Amino acid sequence: MRLRSHHLLGIAELEPDEISLILDTAESLAEVGTREIKKVPTLRGRTVVNFFVEPSTRTRSSFELAEKRLSADTVNFSAASSSFSKGETLLDTARNLEAMAPEFIVIRHSQPGAPHFLARHTDCSIINAGDGAHEHPTQALLDAYTIRQNKGGIRGLRVAIIGDVLNSRVARSNVYLLSRMGANVVVCGPPTLMPKGMERLQCEVTHRLEQALEGADVVMALRIQRERMQAGCFPSLREYAMVYGVNRERLERAAADAIVMHPGPINRGVEITGDVADGERSVILSQVTNGVAVRMAVLYLLAGERGREEAAA
Ligand code: CP
Repeated sequence: MRLRSHHLLGIAELEPDEISLILDTAESLAEVGTREIKKVPTLRGRTVVNFFVEPSTRTRSSFELAEKRLSADTVNFSAASSSFSKGETLLDTARNLEAMAPEFIVIRHSQPGAPHFLARHTDCSIINAGDGAHEHPTQALLDAYTIRQNKGGIRGLRVAIIGDVLNSRVARSNVYLLSRMGANVVVCGPPTLMPKGMERLQCEVTHRLEQALEGADVVMALRIQRERMQAGCFPSLREYAMVYGVNRERLERAAADAIVMHPGPINRGVEITGDVADGERSVILSQVTNGVAVRMAVLYLLAGERGREEAAA
């Protein structure tokens, strides 16, 4: 069993057996993070460029840790600290980075499709660390890993994804992944924050929070993305929290053993109350822990694909 590409651009491009392979591989590699010396030589001599044009706390540090645990050499660029801020185009930036012969570029960009563009124009393996409101594949993979860890599987679970679906790459990648793996996904949010045609992505759509939460095994709250939002999507954050905020009382409608997830960063008191985010059902920090093993698995498997393609050339 192997991946079909040496890039990870989105969940849309992955078959269920590839998703299972990444999750199983992450399960094996998670053990490295429990050792006293958290390092294996798998990517020794390989170079990874982390190119983050948008801010990130979790994804960037998680990729960097994953790379270091696999003994890769890493270089970090952000928009502010690179010549990107002087007007250099994405293509010129990519070509210049490629001239330094890295094997991987991990990219986060505000433009949907930026990683796909790089994949067409460079020979590096490209990993999408979030492209605009399009996809965030490693987030969906770590979410699936966390669900499997807590629920023993994904098939047949009712997963409620609640909030700013319109602007959420996490929601899109999760809908692709979880529906493909046999979960029953319901997405919920105000009509102004719900993309048209969402039901075509094999999920139920509702604007009623109580309906979404009814019997849910997994409750995933999404961040209100004020930086991508146009004015007038809802009257105020206070009103949004009153109608769509996940709180203890509303969580009563979910299954008794439901878990609560959030990709972070959290707007406490808006999409989720602090007591639920920190409560006994929350697996939010486990999601962060699991992100390292999942990203190690992605790098490890993509390196294998590159090796096979180089050997065949
Ligand atoms: N979940 C996530 O993408 O968080 P960051 O923006 O901090 O990377």
